[in-house]
Amino acid sequence: MGKGIRKAVFPAAGLGTRFLPATKASPKEMLPIVDKPLIQYGVEEAVDCGIDQFIIITGKNKRAIEDHFDTAAELEEKLRNGGKDEMLKEITRLNKIDFAYIRQRTALGLGHAIYCARPFVGNEAFAVILSDDVIDPDFKVLKEMVEVYEKVQSPVIAIQEVPKSETNRYGIIDGELQDGVIKIKGMVEKPDPKNAPSNLAIIGRYILTPDIFDVLEKQKPGKGGEIQLTDALISLMAKRPIYGYKIKGGRYDAGDKLGYLMATVDFALKNSELADPFREFLKARFSAK
Ligand code: G1P
Repeated sequence: MGKGIRKAVFPAAGLGTRFLPATKASPKEMLPIVDKPLIQYGVEEAVDCGIDQFIIITGKNKRAIEDHFDTAAELEEKLRNGGKDEMLKEITRLNKIDFAYIRQRTALGLGHAIYCARPFVGNEAFAVILSDDVIDPDFKVLKEMVEVYEKVQSPVIAIQEVPKSETNRYGIIDGELQDGVIKIKGMVEKPDPKNAPSNLAIIGRYILTPDIFDVLEKQKPGKGGEIQLTDALISLMAKRPIYGYKIKGGRYDAGDKLGYLMATVDFALKNSELADPFREFLKARFSAK
């Protein structure tokens, strides 16, 4: 379990334009779902797979991410002295993890952000986690992808069916699904619904092999003038198979306002402290209408 994958890359340099004005000066990765920032859900998912090296690709206005994963000595002491042990445990849980930060100087796209991680990743397979795709920890998506990777020893991409009208928001793949795994025949970044090869969308979890870096190094800008990971994967497909892993659910597009609200409601309803009073509140809200 997870023995083959030790490193995870978190592209976090995006501008978060779908969530303005909240993301004008604060990173979108720090938006909380209930009480944890989006990026922490992704980090915990990776820890759960045995990953122990974390590479975060940052940009302007992203300092809060570094502070969040740093030790907070003063706060820790205050909690310790105040006997707030539970809270102390919660904020120090990830203290032993080492994070490497690489600054992407210009927002040239997802493919370029991943390329920036090359010196830290070296010559081994690695996970990529896009933290605005929040995944319910009960679904163990990354863990299952690592298991698929261990069998196929080639890149594995998370996919999910989306309404056909939304294909222009995702990388869309072509191929036939068999038992949850698909050998990908083609992909296209954010196609117009008219031209989409399917409604199977790429979700922000990837297991990649290090040969992607040679492709990314030469990758020309694609959709939106950005260096696209999808385009690099298309080129890589000429050399080796790439697999899609159909997730069973539990994914929220928390970089989008509606998806964010859905995640907030569902995660609150799973939170032991909040579930009962929040359910009562929702019931009262709806019966009043
Ligand atoms: C990126 C990828 C896209 C993928 C999506 C998943 O797009 O380019 O292929 O479907 O993540 O969240 P972005 O959401 O960064 O525009």
